[in-house]
Amino acid sequence: MISSNITIGKNGHLYFGGQDTVHLAQQYSTPLYVMDEERIRENMRTYIRAFADHFGPEAIPCYASKANCFKRIYEIAHEEGMDIDVVSSGEIYTAYKANYPLAHAWFHSNNKTEEDIRFAMYHGVGHFVADSVEELDAIEAIAAQMGIVQKILLRLTPGIDPHTYEAVNTGRVDSKFGIAIETGQAWQAVRHALSLPHIFLDGFHCHVGSMVFGEDVYLRASEIMLDFVAKCRAAFGCALQFLDLGGGYGVRYVESDGRVDIYSAVGELAKHMKAYCAKIDTPLPIVTMEPGRSIVADAGMTLYTVGSVKKIPGYKNYTSIDGGMTDNPRYALYRSRYSVYHANRPSAQADFVSDLVGRCCESDDIIQPHISLPEPKRGDIIAVATTGAYNYSMASNYNRIPRPAMVLVTPERCCLAVRRETLEDLLSNDL
Ligand code: LLP
Repeated sequence: MISSNITIGKNGHLYFGGQDTVHLAQQYSTPLYVMDEERIRENMRTYIRAFADHFGPEAIPCYASKANCFKRIYEIAHEEGMDIDVVSSGEIYTAYKANYPLAHAWFHSNNKTEEDIRFAMYHGVGHFVADSVEELDAIEAIAAQMGIVQKILLRLTPGIDPHTYEAVNTGRVDSKFGIAIETGQAWQAVRHALSLPHIFLDGFHCHVGSMVFGEDVYLRASEIMLDFVAKCRAAFGCALQFLDLGGGYGVRYVESDGRVDIYSAVGELAKHMKAYCAKIDTPLPIVTMEPGRSIVADAGMTLYTVGSVKKIPGYKNYTSIDGGMTDNPRYALYRSRYSVYHANRPSAQADFVSDLVGRCCESDDIIQPHISLPEPKRGDIIAVATTGAYNYSMASNYNRIPRPAMVLVTPERCCLAVRRETLEDLLSNDL
């Protein structure tokens, strides 16, 4: 099994997070997002412990809630003592409704609207991560109107290509995100930020990309950022106490993917950064990171019911399920790989090869091509593993398909975290 929270029960069914997936499908219907609460907490604790042990107690990682945003996850982040990364008024409002203390929120996004900025300040969001000079000016103007001084980080591009897939490469000089160090624009932005009376420049941020496995990507990014911190401290005499290195490590979707030991990877990073700070003679900032995928991906599984099984002799087979790109657009967007299981008979011989496809009017509505399963029949339950990140948060209503429910499970209990959308929900904005 691709993840240790996926097991086979005594009844031969697939279990996830200690629960029988076939029973979950019967009880809550399908498609169904299942989230393993204990795994979410374990993943959060791993990052929290790694940062506290290696960088010190002030170094608190943030959960990048774009990976999966719903009220209960903010309650869990709060209970575990994790900060949060938010990117829109919608995420801020969800966290607010979950009673998350927004002083511990970090507001990202490359183009915050005036409404977003006002909304975030009104709710007391702790730090903004400003992405451009125009945004600095907008934050300054609204902070002045509100009579506050807003703490910010500046998002910079260190000029690194992490060799992941193109769509999530963001640390390069020509990225739409952040301000480039190489071109001298970052230096000008720092100077400008320091001149604004309602902005307090509290440090820098960078994000080199998602699905990063190679530790040297973070090591190289941290050196470039530390050089810049040291240069700014010397020139402007500012403390720049925070350095946020962006998203977290990659996860395993299929057996051939690498495996990152997050605790020791953070340890290596801390060792490297401490040595580098000693070399360039600057104090180590408070270092943070904002993992999303590696907090929730392996804590999620999606359950589907099989509809038709189409065999085209001499060509190929299709297994159609009752969900698709509306609940998981990642194959259509990125050709993402997934591990797929037959939930009723996971141990039976996997000798039937087919494309697992959805029910949308789109040929690319594929969850995973060319998978081997015990031959499915109508009514069987199929489980797609490692769907906790960027599935529910990227779901759509294409073809007027309601979004699935999400159930949070532990071995002892199941609890609905997001109810299934209804047909009436789909009409709720129509006039
Ligand atoms: N911080 C920033 C500024 C980000 O842009 C991201 C992800 C993260 C943190 C979280 O990165 P993570 O730890 O999850 O790798 N939809 C794509 C992923 C887009 C990632 C966008 N930014 C996918 O499904 O693979």
